[in-house]
Amino acid sequence: MSVLEKISSEAIIAAENKYGAHNYHPLPVVLSRGEGVYVWDVEGKKYYDFLSAYSAVNQGHCHPKIINALIEQAQMLTLTSRAFYNDQLGPYEKFLTEYFGFDKVLPMNTGAEAVETALKLCRKWAYEVKGIEEQQAQIIVCEGNFHGRTTTIISFSNDENARKNFGPYTAGFIKIAYDDIDALEKALASTKNIAGFLVEPIQGEAGVYVPSEGYLAKAKALCEQHNVLFIADEVQTGIARTGKLLAVDHENVKPDILILGKAISGGVYPVSAVLANDPIMNVIKPGQHGSTFGGNPLAAVVAVAALEVVREEALAENAEYLGRIFRSKIGEFVHTSSIATLVRGKGLLNAIVINDTEDSSTAWDICMKLAENGLLAKPTHGNIIRFAPPLVMNEAQLLDCVGIIIETLRTFEQ
Ligand SMILES: Cc1ncc(COP(=O)(O)O)c(C=O)c1O
Repeated sequence: MSVLEKISSEAIIAAENKYGAHNYHPLPVVLSRGEGVYVWDVEGKKYYDFLSAYSAVNQGHCHPKIINALIEQAQMLTLTSRAFYNDQLGPYEKFLTEYFGFDKVLPMNTGAEAVETALKLCRKWAYEVKGIEEQQAQIIVCEGNFHGRTTTIISFSNDENARKNFGPYTAGFIKIAYDDIDALEKALASTKNIAGFLVEPIQGEAGVYVPSEGYLAKAKALCEQHNVLFIADEVQTGIARTGKLLAVDHENVKPDILILGKAISGGVYPVSAVLANDPIMNVIKPGQHGSTFGGNPLAAVVAVAALEVVREEALAENAEYLGRIFRSKIGEFVHTSSIATLVRGKGLLNAIVINDTEDSSTAWDICMKLAENGLLAKPTHGNIIRFAPPLVMNEAQLLDCVGIIIETLRTFEQ
């Protein structure tokens, strides 16, 4: 195809349908450009992005500082593998560990890889430091979790669609109810072989479930009491999304292992990270874990720029401020609505529950109408729509979006 030839949305969707695996069910919108809180489709229609690539684009699309860092580094050196040192990794590791307050980081690329890394780290610590008998370590996880798509991770998912026919599954996980401190206490007391507790501080994919106040702090205290590692998966909730740098910061909890991904690069490049202090991280020795791309110089400079933007533009504070307005305005509407029953969330990670059954198409239909009205959002589970715009949004834009959402929902009122 020549650069002058314009290919239509329909043709692009048809190509994906024919040549791509059908592992997603996207809204039929084909995007070709993004800037800040906006994206444009190939026909030139402009939308507010209210998904931010599942909370990866917190700094807004194509942030100039991050893109410039990427371009400059891409012209110097992109990949060496860890067979050699590169001049960006050490400075990045110093920056990142100081930024989040940990001794060490293990750099990876995707969220799922970082979760896998954390699970391996936790098990190794359990055998070599805690003294659990080999092969016996158990990790507690929560019902409704979403931690990615690897075979081990889906082994402890309770989303049948994500699990079915991908077995045999990895053993060594105990599943308990989310936001149930008694269940955690019971599980911790049930055996001496518990190595860790893996938790999302807010369950994003499940539908933005915010646990009761105090749950995370109590869970962390219980883990300490039982010498069990508290592992926070902040792949979706981290990097200012919920109104603090990390969602655990709302309860002043310091995880033993912190998992980051997505917005650590502003959605510009796949970068993820596992952070821990020396007594945990030092169990990993040369040759025991790694990744060809993990810690590459391009990732390093992109992540530094992306995290500087979070601080320079006070994105956590903005998310906190705008999130309150969003929930208050939508909440007022929900109060009188028959189509929306609830709005919940923290910062700019929010969801609206639609008054229909989980298997209904209403939430999808509402998202189609929202797209028509210039705002992109996506149902999470059946009747729940997640709203997570870039954190660089301003108040006027947010109010404009609230107007679009309410007007759209109104057209679905009985
Ligand atoms: C909490 C959480 N953990 C892990 C992942 C997996 O990240 P990735 O898709 O980059 O593998 C996600 C993705 O949505 C997530 O929300």
